[in-house]
Amino acid sequence: MTFTATQIEITPTGKALGAIVTGLDVSRPLAPEVVLQLKQAWRDHSLLIFKNQKLTDEQQIAFASYFGDILQQPAYVRKGETEPYLPPLVLTLANAATEESSVNTIPNHRALLPHIDHDWLPVPSSGSLLQAIKLPEDGGPDTTWFNLIQAYDELDEATKQQIADLQLRHINFYGKHRDEYATPNYAAGRTLEPGERVAIHPLVRTHPDTGKKILYLNAAGDVDIVDYDHAAGEKLIARLREHITQPHLAYSHHWSEGDLLYWDNQATAHYRPAFASNATRILKRVSIQGSRPF
Ligand code: SIN
Repeated sequence: MTFTATQIEITPTGKALGAIVTGLDVSRPLAPEVVLQLKQAWRDHSLLIFKNQKLTDEQQIAFASYFGDILQQPAYVRKGETEPYLPPLVLTLANAATEESSVNTIPNHRALLPHIDHDWLPVPSSGSLLQAIKLPEDGGPDTTWFNLIQAYDELDEATKQQIADLQLRHINFYGKHRDEYATPNYAAGRTLEPGERVAIHPLVRTHPDTGKKILYLNAAGDVDIVDYDHAAGEKLIARLREHITQPHLAYSHHWSEGDLLYWDNQATAHYRPAFASNATRILKRVSIQGSRPF
């Protein structure tokens, strides 16, 4: 069976971003007009929520491939190891109770502060698709996305002018223990620690598909503004981080098993609070190769 555009419904969440897509089994081949409809809905809502899916790794990759090439994360040396580790295309994000995590050798139940997947790469991902495989009985912690297009739009004109041409260094937060990321720091031009990666991107980037302006900033990793006074930069970034994480810019997703969420990493940041270390929570993520931010 091939799904047609008339069979699917796309319902906005009513929050700052996100839409729920029903009437679609994404493991099956999709008609061209459906793929185009999904691409347009993703551009319009920045986050699509597909309910009741049950995808194998191969099916998740096949569905994701409608939207671009699958991102291969670069190899890195994990804490306590000596050989470089090449992450698989389908990352298992799981807490310690399952011992299934392929992205970290450390428990994954601690808070993930508002971050942008792969902003530490020179060519970051355009989006990520995350499928809930196994969850605690109550659904576990919600994950919250923030709309960085609206965040930019709502800045006052003076701030828009102030930040228009600024370049931001993004330092990744992998390879360290998550406890060390409880509070992101202003990097203030510091040199990189072993295992850290860095990329420089415009603080205000332009969406490659829609031309909309985006406040391309996380509230998780170390960043600093290139060629900018340290104290002034630290103050500005702290103010902007408070701005992007305001509740009215957010959509919080309460997970059910079989949920598949596809979000725009160019236009959103996302956050997951800490949860009980003995809870079983397994999700699988695939990301799409993006383009150089401009
Ligand atoms: C992620 O940040 O990719 C995972 C989010 C979550 O665990 O809900």
